Amino acid sequence: MSALRGRTIVVGVTGGIAAYKAVEVCRRLVDLGAHVVPVMTDAAEQFIGRTTLSALCSEPVQTSLWDEVSPIPHTVLGQRADAIVVVPATAHLLGAYAAGLSTDLLTNTLLATRAPVVVCPAMHTEMWEHPAVRDNLAVLRQRGVIVVEPDEGRLAGGDVGSGRLAAPERIVAAIEAVLGSGDLADLHVVVTAGGTREPIDAVRVIANRSSGKQGYAIAAEALSRGATVTLISTVDLPTPTHARLVRVETAAQMQIAVEHESESGDVVVMAAAVADFRPRAVADHKIKKADGPPEIVLEPTPDILASLGARKRAGQTLVGFAAETDDLIAHAEAKMRRKNLDLIVANDVRAAGVGFQHDTNAVSLLRPDAPMVTIGLTDKRSIARAILDVVVDIRSGPK
Ligand code: C5P
Repeated sequence: MSALRGRTIVVGVTGGIAAYKAVEVCRRLVDLGAHVVPVMTDAAEQFIGRTTLSALCSEPVQTSLWDEVSPIPHTVLGQRADAIVVVPATAHLLGAYAAGLSTDLLTNTLLATRAPVVVCPAMHTEMWEHPAVRDNLAVLRQRGVIVVEPDEGRLAGGDVGSGRLAAPERIVAAIEAVLGSGDLADLHVVVTAGGTREPIDAVRVIANRSSGKQGYAIAAEALSRGATVTLISTVDLPTPTHARLVRVETAAQMQIAVEHESESGDVVVMAAAVADFRPRAVADHKIKKADGPPEIVLEPTPDILASLGARKRAGQTLVGFAAETDDLIAHAEAKMRRKNLDLIVANDVRAAGVGFQHDTNAVSLLRPDAPMVTIGLTDKRSIARAILDVVVDIRSGPK
C-alpha cells in the first residue's frame, strides 16, 4: 500500500516552463490515494491554468494570501500538510525559501509548516550551476529539505543540459520516502465521534453538546499515519478522505457498530460522548403539548467501553475519554481502571477553550503504568497527534 494513502500533500507550483509537469505529479498523487491541495504562485499562472490543477487535485487551487475564505490560509495549509512538495522549484523560490522571505502564499506556507518539504528544482543549466543557487540548495539541505535533483536533457529553447525537472515517478517516490510507511500502518483504528441522541418521542431527543471534532481529528491523524480507519459518528462533519464512515444516532446503535468493528479493531478510541441515560419508553408519535409535560423515566444505557474492556483481546488498545467538571484526574483515573483501559484522555470541560464544540482542547493523558502527560491548550489535530503517539508507545510494549 502506498504511504501516500490518506495523506494530505500540498503541491506548490512555481513559474517555470516545467509547471505543466506538475499536473502529472498531482494526478499520480491523487491516484495513489493522497489528498492533494494545490498552491500556485502568480508566475505559475503564466504557464498553466488554475482550472487544470483544480480539476485534477482534491481541492481548488489556492494562490493568494488575501482572497481566501480563511483569514490565515498559510498557517492552515502548513498545519494540515503531511508533506509539501514544490514542483517545479524555480531559482527564485529556492532563494526566497533559503532566505526566509515570505512574499506569497507558497513561501508563507513553507515557513509556517513543520511537515517535511521536498523541492524539485527545474531551470536552465547556467542558472542551475550558479553559485547562488548552489548555496541556497546547500542551506535548504542542511535544514532537512529534500532536494530531487533535476535530470539532464532537453531544456526549453532547445538547449541540452542539466536542469530539466526530474521525472514524475522520481518525484512521487521521493514524497513516498519522506512519509515512510507510517507508524500506524497495517492497523485498524476504530474511532467514535459526536454525542448520541436518545429519542423521547417521534421528534424529540435527549442530546449533549459534543461536536465530534476531536474524534474526527483523531480519525484524520490516524489515516495520515497509515491506519485503516473506521469512524463511527453521530454528526455530519466532512468525512476524512479514506475513512469508512458508519453513521449512528443512539447509544444502542453505537454499541452494535462498535462491537462489530472492534472485532477487527487493533485500536479503539471512544471519543464519542455516549449518553449515560435514555428514556425507558419512547412514544412512536409526537407527544402533544396540550397533554401537558410528559414524565420521562430514564434508564441507563449500556456502557460500551466498559464491555469492550471486559473482553479486551490481546494486542487490542482501548482508549477512553473523560469529560469532567470536578476532580478531573481522580475521576479519570478511576474510570480508566474500572473500564480496563490502556489510556484515558481527561479534559476539564469547564476550562476556557476546552472540550465540547471548541476547535481547541487541553488534556491529560493517563495510563495505568506510566506517568501522566499533560498537553496545554492547542488545536484538536495536535491533541490527536499526542494521543496517537501514546498509543504507538503503548503498542511498542514495556521499555
Ligand atoms: O463513564 P463515562 O461515561 O464518563 O466514560 C466516558 C468514556 O466512556 C468515553 O470514552 C465514552 O465514549 C465511553 N462511554 C461508553 N458508553 C457509555 C458511556 C460512555 O462507551 N454508555
